[in-house]
Parts: sequence; C-alpha cells; structure tokens
Amino acid sequence: MAPLSLTQWCINLRRRKPPPLSMLPICLACVTSFLILLYMSYTFDNFFHLTKIFPADTPSLVKLPKQNDSISDVLVTFEDQNGPPITRILDKTHDHYKPGGNYASEAYLKNVLFKSHFVTNDPSEADLFFLPFSIASLRHDRKIGVSGLSDFILNYVTNIIQNYPYWNRTGGADHFYAACHSIGRVAMEKVDQVKSNAIQVVCSSSYFLTNYFAHKDVSLPQIWPRHEEPLDLASHSKRKKLAFYAGTANSPLRKAVVQTWENDSSIFVHGGRLKTPYSEQLLGSKYCLHVKGFEVNTARVGDAFYYGCVPVILADYYDLPFMDIINWKSFSVVITSSDIPNLKKILLSISPKRYSVLQANVLKVRKHFQWNNSPLDFDAFYMVMYELWLRRSTIRVMY
Ligand SMILES: *[C@@H]1O[C@H](CO)[C@@H](O)[C@H](O)[C@H]1NC(C)=O
Ligand SMILES: *[C@@H]1O[C@H](CO)[C@@H](O)[C@H](O)[C@H]1NC(C)=O
Ligand SMILES: *[C@@H]1O[C@H](CO)[C@@H](O)[C@H](O)[C@H]1NC(C)=O
Repeated sequence: MAPLSLTQWCINLRRRKPPPLSMLPICLACVTSFLILLYMSYTFDNFFHLTKIFPADTPSLVKLPKQNDSISDVLVTFEDQNGPPITRILDKTHDHYKPGGNYASEAYLKNVLFKSHFVTNDPSEADLFFLPFSIASLRHDRKIGVSGLSDFILNYVTNIIQNYPYWNRTGGADHFYAACHSIGRVAMEKVDQVKSNAIQVVCSSSYFLTNYFAHKDVSLPQIWPRHEEPLDLASHSKRKKLAFYAGTANSPLRKAVVQTWENDSSIFVHGGRLKTPYSEQLLGSKYCLHVKGFEVNTARVGDAFYYGCVPVILADYYDLPFMDIINWKSFSVVITSSDIPNLKKILLSISPKRYSVLQANVLKVRKHFQWNNSPLDFDAFYMVMYELWLRRSTIRVMY
C-alpha cells in the first residue's frame, strides 16, 4: 500500500501546479526519508518477500497451501510399464528411511512426496507431473553408471512422450524432476525438451550455466542432515571467532580465500578436511563462509543455519534456494569474489545490533532448511512444494 500511495502522490504533484519553491526542499527531504525507510523495511526487516502469504513468521497464523487447497492435487506418478521396474528408478520410500550425506535432499524430497497428500492417481486432477528417476541411484547402478546416464534419461523421456498424452500438451512445462548431484546436468545432455521446458529442481542452481533458468527451475537446498540438537544456538558469547571456513581447495575462489586469510587471528580458514568436529567451529564463529567449489552449492549454507551461524555467501551466480520466498539479505551476507581481500573489513563493519538481527533471523530460517520424514509446516519439503506451486500455472494446458 505504501508504494502505491507514494506513486499516486507523485503523480498528483506533477498534475497540479508546481509547489512553491520553498516547499521543494521539505518535499524532497520527506520523500527521501520515506524512500530510505521503505528501502530499509524491505531490505532488513521483511523476512519474507510475500508478506500476504507469509505475513509474519507465525506458523499458527499462516499455513502453506495444504489439505483441501488447490495445491493438494499436484502430481501423478508414472508407472513406467516398458522401462525398468519403477522401484529401481525410485529411491526406497519407507517410514524410517533417513537419507544422509551430501545429496540427501533429492532422496528426502521423493520419500516425503510419495507419502504426502500431494500425489494423485487421477491425471485430470494433476497440476504437475513428476519424472521420478533418481540420478543419485542411477549413477551407482552397475548397469547404467555415469556413462549410461544420458542414454537412460533419453529413453525414459522418449517413452513418456510417446506413451502418455500429458507431455505434448505443454511441451513438458508441467513436468518436473529433482536432482541434487551436479551429474544431473550430464544426465540431461540428450533431452533438450527437459532442459528448456520442464521444471528442474536442482541443487546446482547457477544462473551462469546455460541449462538452468532461474524463473523456471527451482533451487533445491543442499542439506547434510544433522541429528544432534545443538544447545545455546542464540548465544553470541561463545562465538569468539569472526568467521570460519574449511574445505578442499578445488576452485580458484577457495584457493583465494585460504591464501588470503590462512594466518588471520580472527578468521579461521582451513584448506582441506578438519580433524576436529565441524560443529565446534560452526557454533564458535559469528559468520560461516560458504565458498563455491566445483559447483555454486554445498551443504555449508544448511550447516550454518543448523548451528545458528550467519552464512557469508561467496558464490557468484548462485540462485539461492527459496529466494523468491525469503529475503536472504535479512539473514546472510552475500559478497562477490572481488570482495575476498575486504572480507574482514566488511564483516567488522556490521554493527553488533545488525548482527543480532541477522542471527535472530538465522534461527527463524533454520526450519526451512531441514528435512523431516513426516513433514512439518514450513520445512524444506513444504518450501520446495511451494516453489513448485508458484510455477504450476506458468503454462496453461491448452486442451
Ligand atoms: C478437507 O477434506 C477432508 C476430506 O477430503 C474433509 O474431511 C475435511 O473436513 C476438509 N476440511 C476442510 C477444512 O474443509
Ligand atoms: C507427442 O509428440 C511427438 C512429436 O510430435 C510424437 O512423436 C508423439 O507420438 C506424441 N505423443 C503422443 C502420446 O501422441
Ligand atoms: C602464512 O604463514 C605462512 C608460514 O609462515 C607463510 O608461508 C604464508 O605466506 C603466510 N600467508 C599469508 C597470507 O600471509
């Protein structure tokens, strides 16, 4: 409402006679301070972009579209009669299944999805169609492996296009697949229709890459599921180090970070695996660096949230997860590769008050980056479903 009335007011001002000269500075001052306030409220305080859907971070007041809402019939699964048995393509789904490791997000999404009320067996009710192949399983399948991935997907998609009437209605725009491992790109090499039309729910969401489209595809957060419940997340006094980073120096950016800050007394960087528990550093630092490696994504962002550490994102062209729902400026520090030499200056220029806001928001955002076997409101599963829901009607079925 505020931006609308401001516009209105400006237009009226122009339509009428110009205001007396002495009024101008006052007007300008008013408008400027209003704009600054507006900017500040958008940049800093609005945790959610879509304040109508997420008026505040109060799950009891707002719910994501759930049962009985239009989102309830999103999917229909493909029983692939001619291809390999569906169980071979799918990850196993059972109640106590707890995916782990770096690519757990793909398995979690599917496991929870198939148990959820979003799935329908009636294609006429479906808003979206899911291609349930698991890149993570296929790459370890001895009969397929990395070298056979792209042919497998080509056959699979050709089969879908030939044998089901749904693909051709939209050219695949209402179909989606999920992949957390970047090998998904190799797998899609021979299926241009999937790359350019389908919704790709992927962890390697770099808008620098030609086969990822930020407005069409969905950035899936890479999350290494942690199970211990850390204590004292909010306490600042235990966070004695300014910043922390550890990881293999497999990219120019990582090398630059380690080389620049290796001997610093307040920033702790370590090239390679840590010998001590990561949780100690994640709980003992104010800021935790996420530095692009081979890909823009790593599980470090999810780890930072889990341990209450404010993430510093150093990954140019990373389409950050849930960016169209949550405001990353309100709980992280996003810098570019050219900022590496100024890292300490940038972090020290953030006031303690501002840090408290960032850190309090990290604790709020934490639940959006966690998977649960039985999904909880606003958790990673519902966030991804919400992203799909936002994209569901981009292309309408014409017949
Ligand atoms: C939602 O749907 C279920 C059955 O489909 C019904 O039992 C329930 O009363 C509905 N709830 C609301 C709030 O409409
Ligand atoms: C969809 O279109 C393709 C290309 O025109 C065609 O080969 C295929 O048979 C169509 N699928 C169905 C189910 O009609
Ligand atoms: C850090 O210390 C080592 C050993 O003294 C030295 O070789 C290296 O050049 C130092 N790095 C920086 C960035 O000062």
